[in-house]
Amino acid sequence: MLSAHRASLLHFLADPDDVELEDSYEYFDDGLLIIEQGKIIALGHAGELLPTLPKNTQITEHSNSLLMPGFVDTHTHYPQTEMIAAHGSQLLDWLDTYTFPTETKFGDSIYARDIAERFLNELLRAGTTTALVFGTVHKESVDAFFEACEARNLRMVAGKVLMDRNAPDELTDTPESGYLESKALIEKWHNRGRLRYAVTPRFSPTCTEAQLERAGQLLEEHSDVYLHTHMSENLAEIAWVKKLFPHCKNYLDTYDQAGLLGRRSIFAHCVHLQEEEWARLAETGSGIAFCPTSNLFLGSGLFPLGEAVSNKINVGLGTDIGAGTSFSVLQTLNEAYKVMQLRGEQLSPFKGLYLATLGGATTLDLHDLIGNLNPGKEADFVVLDKSATPLMDFRMRQCKTLFEELFVFSMLGDDRSIKQTWSAGKLVHDRDR
Ligand code: GUN
Ligand code: ZN
Repeated sequence: MLSAHRASLLHFLADPDDVELEDSYEYFDDGLLIIEQGKIIALGHAGELLPTLPKNTQITEHSNSLLMPGFVDTHTHYPQTEMIAAHGSQLLDWLDTYTFPTETKFGDSIYARDIAERFLNELLRAGTTTALVFGTVHKESVDAFFEACEARNLRMVAGKVLMDRNAPDELTDTPESGYLESKALIEKWHNRGRLRYAVTPRFSPTCTEAQLERAGQLLEEHSDVYLHTHMSENLAEIAWVKKLFPHCKNYLDTYDQAGLLGRRSIFAHCVHLQEEEWARLAETGSGIAFCPTSNLFLGSGLFPLGEAVSNKINVGLGTDIGAGTSFSVLQTLNEAYKVMQLRGEQLSPFKGLYLATLGGATTLDLHDLIGNLNPGKEADFVVLDKSATPLMDFRMRQCKTLFEELFVFSMLGDDRSIKQTWSAGKLVHDRDR
């Protein structure tokens, strides 16, 4: 049976930096989205499409709402849900003080499953339908996460952390055990339903060269899995990498020498890259997760989005929970805008919402499946409430253009703005129930 949703509809067809703005998006003020068996089969003007629908079509009317593709979070950590907002330090100290002690708990499957459920609840409340997610070093953490995602039929990418030095003993594996456990997880979960696997070395300071090489071996043996790691987030981290890998040209080279760059490789942060690193990321089709709330929270720096754009590198937005301070991609856009302001650059709400949807999906090489509302795509979408709060209602009523409305959503919007979240055509979050 068909179902249909009537609302204002917005989605992106291309990167606003690559085409004329009018060609980058479609907007239907009174739109209709038609769904069959979890997939989009049509979208357009309600007035034109409603008369074509069979009589038994279930039509949901969303008044005063904007329907958009579900948000894509290209970098986050589910085990850090419980330590979001931990006060007072920069990256390396923050990892030792807060992160590592928290992550030791995830060898316990029951505990891990409980946190995975809480994390997914938060994601869906924020309108995020797909994320690239760190587990911990424990294989149990990944089983628990994927089991929770499978039960909700979500499209997610995740992996077990690889970490064989410079971390507490309870949190380290070895090149061999990390390889074998990752391989078993790939065989169990990769491409099972809507799930995909990411080989996940934490970052070069906690991986020996031997471990990075085994990660490269996994990518060679499974050509369509992802690579997910951190890079060039913090200046002390970069100096440490230089000491640990004296023979490497730069930070990126520590990954490059192990064969870890490519179309499905995503590097979180990349705040302080050198010219050569930008060029090499571009050449290999590697992607970047821009994590503004985290980069500000840990005092890491201001990501130069303009550099990524001029180098034609795929970029998505990352919440980076728990260094990031919000699950909301709208709040992440708010801080992205301010980061750009401090760099003397501007972020239009069109580019911002492109990054939040199709841009994120493209960075994850999932743009054939999700990221916009084109027929054939999986029906993952959010219904945004234009009057989520008295202030938003009041401010929205002053808006004269779509540009203004979208900018208000990306400055004032958060989980309160997400009226509903739908995944594969099913309601997975309803704010008012
Ligand atoms: N670098 C290595 N591990 C982490 C982490 O857990 N969070 C952040 N923000 N950076 C990292
Ligand atoms: Zn991170």
